Amino acid sequence: MKLFDVYPLFDINIVKGKGCHVWDEKGTEYLDLYGGHAVISIGHAHPHYIEMISKQVATLGFYSNSVINKLQQQVAERLGKVCGYDDHSLFLINSGAEANENALKLSSFYNGRTRVVSFSKAFHGRTSLAVEVTNNPKIIAPINDCGHVTYLPLNDIDTMKAELAKGDVCAVIIEGIQGVGGIQLPTDEFMQALRQACTDNNTVLILDEIQSGYGRSGKFFAHQYNGIKADIITVAKGIGNGFPMAGVLISPMFTPVYGQLGTTFGGNHLACSAALAVLDVIEQENLIANAAKVGEHLMTELKRFPQIKEVRGRGLMIGLEFEEPIKELRLRLLKEQHVFTGVSGTNVLRLLPPLCLSVEEADTFLERFQKAL
Ligand SMILES: Cc1ncc(COP(=O)(O)O)c(C=O)c1O
Repeated sequence: MKLFDVYPLFDINIVKGKGCHVWDEKGTEYLDLYGGHAVISIGHAHPHYIEMISKQVATLGFYSNSVINKLQQQVAERLGKVCGYDDHSLFLINSGAEANENALKLSSFYNGRTRVVSFSKAFHGRTSLAVEVTNNPKIIAPINDCGHVTYLPLNDIDTMKAELAKGDVCAVIIEGIQGVGGIQLPTDEFMQALRQACTDNNTVLILDEIQSGYGRSGKFFAHQYNGIKADIITVAKGIGNGFPMAGVLISPMFTPVYGQLGTTFGGNHLACSAALAVLDVIEQENLIANAAKVGEHLMTELKRFPQIKEVRGRGLMIGLEFEEPIKELRLRLLKEQHVFTGVSGTNVLRLLPPLCLSVEEADTFLERFQKAL
């Protein structure tokens, strides 16, 4: 059997990682400014992470969600404290799309409505409702195109208020910072007006922090820069540092009902040990402050490059917009300078390194970037 060919691949086989570096099978070392698509939070092969997962798999890797799992309770307690949403409850699943599916489903159970507002350039995943709220017709199959969604321009307060005032919108789903859309930031005024409009119209506010959360922006959640709170927050990527895991953080305004949500694998013992190791390292190594500091340094230095049209972002979630397509530049960075980076659309280079990136590693990137230009 061959693999179903859905990914355009670089001809590189990565076999090893350590911190912010990865190696291919020929032994070539690469600087990882991509974090495996914003997934690697505490760095590759962190010793504490290895120890926690190894011990757990040797003890109990999995048992079903029909019994008490104290590791889940520990994740919920620790996460609630560190992210500032102690009053919310946690539902654990396996992927970002699944987190958004559950968030939307829960919202609809809550207010009985079926219409959702999403924003232009939004990305929320590739399954059912998650892809329907994604603003990319190329990846929405006819079976997903059920007419639930109205896409609005980001940061347009009047249009958003008018739509919500219709009184029939179930939920608004919005990224803390748009990732796939090219590192687009919602403004404080927009987010505060959105929070108010959701409250006024009994509409659920879902913050998708799957890419921008878990400390990447220099705060635990990117929307915490905007001075608002969400009814539901979805997390994935960094939560398990590569172990497939995701979470839905749910406001006390929702009442849990047996059977409405559920999962076989979600929150299993092994996944929880990965999540606990990640939380340990984030706290012990002050990785959120590090993301803020190193991100600031990178953005300041990158703004000096006249070739870049605009530098956008927060913490270690940075977009570099060019006048021209960056496909060749990204390839030179990879093949000649041995740096992994990401891309958004045709003209935006995306930097999503592990949160442990040091100032020295950031400077190494800047030197290599200069050479690649
Ligand atoms: C903001 C956002 N939401 C949802 C997803 C989907 O996550 P997953 O690929 O784990 O389903 C992604 C993935 O890139 C994302 O960036």
